[in-house]
Amino acid sequence: MAMALRPMTAGDADGIVHFLTSNSFPFHVVADHTDYSARAAVASGRFWSEESQGYWVEADSGRLGLVVLEDLQDDTPMFDLRLAERHRGRGHGELVVRAACDLVFTTLPHVRRFEGQTREDNRAMRRVFLRSGFLKEAHYRLGWPVGDNRFAASVAYAILRVDWASGTVTPLEWDDELALPDGTTTPRSARER
Ligand SMILES: CC(C)(COP(=O)(O)OP(=O)(O)OC[C@H]1O[C@@H](n2cnc3c(N)ncnc32)[C@H](O)[C@@H]1OP(=O)(O)O)[C@@H](O)C(=O)NCCC(=O)NCCS
Repeated sequence: MAMALRPMTAGDADGIVHFLTSNSFPFHVVADHTDYSARAAVASGRFWSEESQGYWVEADSGRLGLVVLEDLQDDTPMFDLRLAERHRGRGHGELVVRAACDLVFTTLPHVRRFEGQTREDNRAMRRVFLRSGFLKEAHYRLGWPVGDNRFAASVAYAILRVDWASGTVTPLEWDDELALPDGTTTPRSARER
């Protein structure tokens, strides 16, 4: 399927508000936008500013959704992907994430890593991260507000530029404490201070 990411401009404000208010996002902090909250999101500069840039995900069949690149000044930008409800569950997520990786790594030479986070129960997004060459790097317990003073975990995945270029996934050792010098959990240099 042919697919393109088209950068948003101020002329897209009404289209963004329509998209946000006519789709539900059950795993986002604001699941159901009102016209007011959607316009506030647009006014915050989230979709076109030095820090973040939104893109429409466009295919032959029409507009699939949007993706926002965030923290663009950092060496680890992040992203938020939202497909329209009628385009979910059809395998499009991986294509969009791979296109976002291509965009980031080809246009932002200072970027070494590209990261995304999602709520622990967002099975579809977690599968998409893995299919797109991302590796789970963190599990932030109680890091995601779900309302009524309740919290879920936030799970972080990232892809390295070198892995994007080579098509590999460099693994990490979760339980690496025993691999530290002399087998203790405290590096020698810290104990001798
Ligand atoms: C999350 C999202 C990007 C995933 O993209 P997608 O194209 O819908 O996902 P896919 O169709 O490729 O499905 C990926 C996997 O999740 C599964 N899946 C899809 N929808 C699911 C659902 N509602 N519940 C549980 N599993 C689901 C698929 O069966 C597939 O599983 P598999 O890898 O075992 O085959 C998309 O559904 C979406 O935009 N959702 C709303 C916004 C959102 O949650 N964004 C994430 C913010 S970072």
